[in-house]
Amino acid sequence: MRSYRCRCCGGPLEVRVETDQVFSLNSLSGRVQSIWRYEELLPDLGNPVTLGEGMTRLVRCERLAKLIGVRNLYVKLEGTNPTGSFKDRGISVGVTVALRAGADKVVCASTGNTAASLAAYAARAGLECAVLIPKGKVASGKLFQARLFGAVVCEVSGTFDDALRTALREAESIGAYVLNSVNPWRLEGQKTAAFELWEQMSGDTSFDVVVPVGNAGNISAIWKGFEELSRHGLIDDLPRMIGAQSSGAAPLARMMRLGLDEPSWVDDPQTIASAIRIGRPVNWKRAIRAVRRSGGMIYDVEDSEILEAMRLMATSEGIATEPAGAAPIALLKSKIQSGELPRDLTYVCIATGHHLKDPSSALVSWNEPVPVEDYLTRAGLQRTRFRE
Ligand SMILES: Cc1ncc(COP(=O)(O)O)c(C=O)c1O
Repeated sequence: MRSYRCRCCGGPLEVRVETDQVFSLNSLSGRVQSIWRYEELLPDLGNPVTLGEGMTRLVRCERLAKLIGVRNLYVKLEGTNPTGSFKDRGISVGVTVALRAGADKVVCASTGNTAASLAAYAARAGLECAVLIPKGKVASGKLFQARLFGAVVCEVSGTFDDALRTALREAESIGAYVLNSVNPWRLEGQKTAAFELWEQMSGDTSFDVVVPVGNAGNISAIWKGFEELSRHGLIDDLPRMIGAQSSGAAPLARMMRLGLDEPSWVDDPQTIASAIRIGRPVNWKRAIRAVRRSGGMIYDVEDSEILEAMRLMATSEGIATEPAGAAPIALLKSKIQSGELPRDLTYVCIATGHHLKDPSSALVSWNEPVPVEDYLTRAGLQRTRFRE
């Protein structure tokens, strides 16, 4: 349970749950409202460390669909997880495994959300927790959470990739269990997003899933979930997986666009979407395999498109996300306009993190507060005009 790399090739390990028993749409009713409702396809770990993660809302967005020009659009609000991101799914499983393996200390490198999540679940489990973050590059809300939940927050000079290298190198010497997405148990939790989509869409999986890609664990995990549903005969259609990277941190989008066999790493990734500011995604092989098998693609979008997508989501639907979570909507809008993706399909976009994690005013530069007198005068004039 403690190792997460193959002893022969050094590659990431994968968990396989062998079972003949599986849930059906009917058998799920009345079960616990968390990822643990899918127990047949989760590792058997005894009492889970849980805060009620999963079962996030899937919202149909008709106005937004019209604005970006697609037939059917759904957004899955992963920001409604206990610490505000999809990470809680995998961290719940990962911390449960850590306890089972006898660890008393857990560690991760993070762009912010894993740190917040691990800190909370470690507190819940009574474990010591250290998080390594790239200095000055983590959104204030996420840093606040990690500190609030009592983790030791360690700053690393450099990027997330430098922080991850340090965590992997030093974990053994400090006797800590690593809970980054190189840890295969994390992906077991994250694959439940696929089960939920299947359940929430009443078993009809004829849609495309659009996911932001950083370290590439989530897109791989969601695909794994769909493959398992297919293996157990629960679905006929495997969704296409479409990844969204930010242009300043897009090694996988570039690799796919140029048809290369391997990515060339980005040493100094730059994007306003700090959660996906990653130049060396550790799960790149899995992600590329998932995307290719599904018939999908990974594209990149500009920061300006991400900000515009955040604005459109918020003002047309009243739903919001941190910048990385808006990358799928940005991608859809751009690729529908260019004709690279068809209009006439159903798309599910994964809004991966809560908007209040990154409340920088720079992100809403389009809506400056105004003096109340200006508003009252303007509104009064409009009212007069209306009466006339
Ligand atoms: C909000 C958010 N979206 C997307 C991602 C990218 O997920 P992954 O690293 O699994 O590709 C992250 C990762 O930190 C995240 O926090």
